[in-house]
Amino acid sequence: MLWSATARLSANPSPLHLPVSNQSITVFGKSKPSRVRCSHSRAMESNDDTSKAKGLSFDDFLSKKPYSPPTWASHLKPIPSHVFSLAHLPTPIHKWNLPNLPQNTEVWLKRDDLSGMQLSGNKVRKLEFLLAEAVAQGADCIITIGGIQSNHCRATAVAAKYLNLDSYLILRTSKLLVDKDPGLTGNLLVERFMGAHIQLISKEEYAKIGSVALTNVLKEQLLKEGRRPYVIPVGGSNSLGTWGYIEAMREIEEQLQIRNNRIKFDDIVVACGSGGTIAGLSLGSWLGALKAKVHAFCVCDDPDYFYDFVQDLIDGLQAGVNARDIVSILNAKGLGYAINTSEELKFVKEVAAATGVVLDPVYSGKAAYGMMKDMAENPKKWEGRKVLFVHTGGLLGLFDKVDQMAPLVGNWQRMDVNESIPRKEGIGKMF
Ligand SMILES: Cc1ncc(COP(=O)(O)O)c(C=O)c1O
Repeated sequence: MLWSATARLSANPSPLHLPVSNQSITVFGKSKPSRVRCSHSRAMESNDDTSKAKGLSFDDFLSKKPYSPPTWASHLKPIPSHVFSLAHLPTPIHKWNLPNLPQNTEVWLKRDDLSGMQLSGNKVRKLEFLLAEAVAQGADCIITIGGIQSNHCRATAVAAKYLNLDSYLILRTSKLLVDKDPGLTGNLLVERFMGAHIQLISKEEYAKIGSVALTNVLKEQLLKEGRRPYVIPVGGSNSLGTWGYIEAMREIEEQLQIRNNRIKFDDIVVACGSGGTIAGLSLGSWLGALKAKVHAFCVCDDPDYFYDFVQDLIDGLQAGVNARDIVSILNAKGLGYAINTSEELKFVKEVAAATGVVLDPVYSGKAAYGMMKDMAENPKKWEGRKVLFVHTGGLLGLFDKVDQMAPLVGNWQRMDVNESIPRKEGIGKMF
């Protein structure tokens, strides 16, 4: 178990003995403008500065606004012309008291799992840019593609519906299940609530044909039917989507400024699944004031694939930097994409029990597990550092793991009640 592997690094004998209730939880992102972007040019024009600063303006949410980038990113090309306000930003940052950290290492958590849009996590930041382009092009529906429990596909279905667009989702599943009703577990329930059009494809067909050709086939069909589809690639990861996490870096900078830069993060740690999040974060960290080292833990493919992929994304913005200079990618795939060992799931459960933070098992769970393993194996690399871990959401994915999780959770019993206890009046009888 990872916790016991790391236990020797700390005097704290067991994560389960962590004095959770005594933790000093420092949060920033709350007692200040609730939308960082209101302080810069993305804000809507309004005379009501006070309500805007408090995030009270309901004209802001779901509005499309002209976009101007942070000054340090203004040389990138192309710069998106517009952005939708879909997420609840800024997401909070708080201290994450993980047990068994190397000496004097602090871990802070950027809560992008709290970005809103029905638990859309990191995906909503990319969709703010992608859907602005879709609407500008006059699209009436969105096509995208991913795994059967794709958080990205679900986030797209939700955001599209908010903007009155239909969604068509190509979902990859096993050969055995491809002809069957996919059910309602996790992300599927939300997608089907949204009325998303789901088309299943087997893993083998996906591998053979590829996501680009598959989305093209569907696009041609929809065009023939007179629809105006806009295609979003896997994970929303293209150069336009990359702006979502360039913006997130501006948000983090502004959150730090509000605290008079009393904290400075040395490292940023995040999961990598299709590459767009790390492309934006590492470019933003490199170009902006923070200059934190970005460590990505990839949960599929391998680091070399992602260095090349990120290079393509940042070349698409004419950034003129080498991906290998701005991000370090480590492998956290384990048994394979979306497949968990019971040790990983136990880790997710123990982090929740120790800190109150629920990680998804497919992305942030594997990334945090990978980070703790690296900290245990290379403590000197992390000692004394202030680390910002970006929780990218994906909580609905947990529901796909309940069978595997069941043996890890206990804590229930039939309450022992004596039939003779007299009733006291309270709130109703609830039946
Ligand atoms: C919950 C969650 N976290 C992290 C990621 C990885 O982000 P990216 O696809 O930008 O690499 C994804 C999607 O792949 C995701 O759904």
